[in-house]
Amino acid sequence: MRIPSNRDFTRITPSAFTYHRLKSYVSDCRAVLLPSFGGPHLLQLRSHVPVPPLKSHDVLVRARAVSVNPLDTRMRAGYGRSIFERLLPIILGRDVSGEVAAVGDKVRLVSVGEQVFGALHPTAVRGTYADYAILSEEEVTPKPDSLTHVEASAIPFAALTAWRALKSTARISEGQRILVVGGGGAVGLSAVQFAVAAGCSVVTTCGSQSVDRLLAAGAEQAVDYIAEDVELAIKGKFDAVLDTIGMPETERMGINFLKRGGHYMTLQGEAASLSDRYGLIIGLPAATAVLLKKQLLYRFSHGIEYSWTYMRDDLEGLTEIRKLCEAGKMKIPVYKTFPIAQVKEAHEAKDKKLIPGPHAEKPKMPDKVKVLNNVSP
Ligand SMILES: NC(=O)c1ccc[n+]([C@@H]2O[C@H](COP(=O)([O-])OP(=O)(O)OC[C@H]3O[C@@H](n4cnc5c(N)ncnc54)[C@H](OP(=O)(O)O)[C@@H]3O)[C@@H](O)[C@H]2O)c1
Repeated sequence: MRIPSNRDFTRITPSAFTYHRLKSYVSDCRAVLLPSFGGPHLLQLRSHVPVPPLKSHDVLVRARAVSVNPLDTRMRAGYGRSIFERLLPIILGRDVSGEVAAVGDKVRLVSVGEQVFGALHPTAVRGTYADYAILSEEEVTPKPDSLTHVEASAIPFAALTAWRALKSTARISEGQRILVVGGGGAVGLSAVQFAVAAGCSVVTTCGSQSVDRLLAAGAEQAVDYIAEDVELAIKGKFDAVLDTIGMPETERMGINFLKRGGHYMTLQGEAASLSDRYGLIIGLPAATAVLLKKQLLYRFSHGIEYSWTYMRDDLEGLTEIRKLCEAGKMKIPVYKTFPIAQVKEAHEAKDKKLIPGPHAEKPKMPDKVKVLNNVSP
């Protein structure tokens, strides 16, 4: 089947080309397939990849920009293989920003033609690295006019992860002290912006190149984890700690910085890694046992709540994220974009952490590498 080019879409006026027709027209599109786990060279941009029919609450989004999250590169390398191996080839990508091309018959929250952004759940098999992505209506929200598609696509997956930790788990409130370990990444920066907007005072650890950005975002202290002794530099106790790094030393430090009754949340839960190692049947109960043991241990030894945080789709969170973006209180910098034909290069760059940012003095990790859809190299 012929794939409509950009020119086809711009030439046809809405009156001559109804969105109902578009719905039946897009039965296939370009997509980046991952046929097996491994390096970036495995990613294949293919044409004529089927677009499944929409379910009642589905939204078909014509992708204008998608982002490369650490989850994408980890999934490409085999993280989550206990779920995804039997489903290969899969399409990577969680975030998307674009326009609604068609909607399922029960969709009420967005309409055809609307500019939206959103993110898929970590276990979604058909990701967003495609000309057309399918999300449920609760996974998208109108894109603020103040953000470009590239800027918008950097935000939802990371910000929803931060939202889940700070709002759903720790239920942070005005006047509390929050520590974000690893504030230089997209989740960390989102968490700092959420906590500041909620009226909390925020301390964070980050690389030297991120210090100014985190202070500008409202953190009261941003400690360079390479140049400084973090445990000496940070004073006092916290109501919640979000640990985006999740190494044994950051976990120990985070827990020691908590007040009694505080919440420690790590992004590096072991459910997927244990399932990958031992299979779902043994791995999931083993992960539950590990988590339970730590929860009991830390409740007894420190009087704190311990949890593994995972991104979840959450319309309330996404709506709040949109409002913060509209108010100019949430933004994730984007340092480099790639056309979708260069998705391998985008993954290589994210793997090697070699993209220099505009404010970087040395090669650094970009907060987001973008893959732009429908842009020629
Ligand atoms: N559980 C979930 O559902 C979930 C969801 C999203 C992400 N994650 C995971 O969470 C992590 C962060 O994700 P992201 O999207 O924010 O990644 P990202 O945008 O790629 O950022 C990673 C940042 O971590 C910082 N960093 C590295 N080592 C550090 C250390 N020892 N101390 C302090 N900061 C350190 C670096 O910041 P500087 O540039 O300042 O050095 C780096 O830029 C990844 O491992 C990802 O896989 C999990």
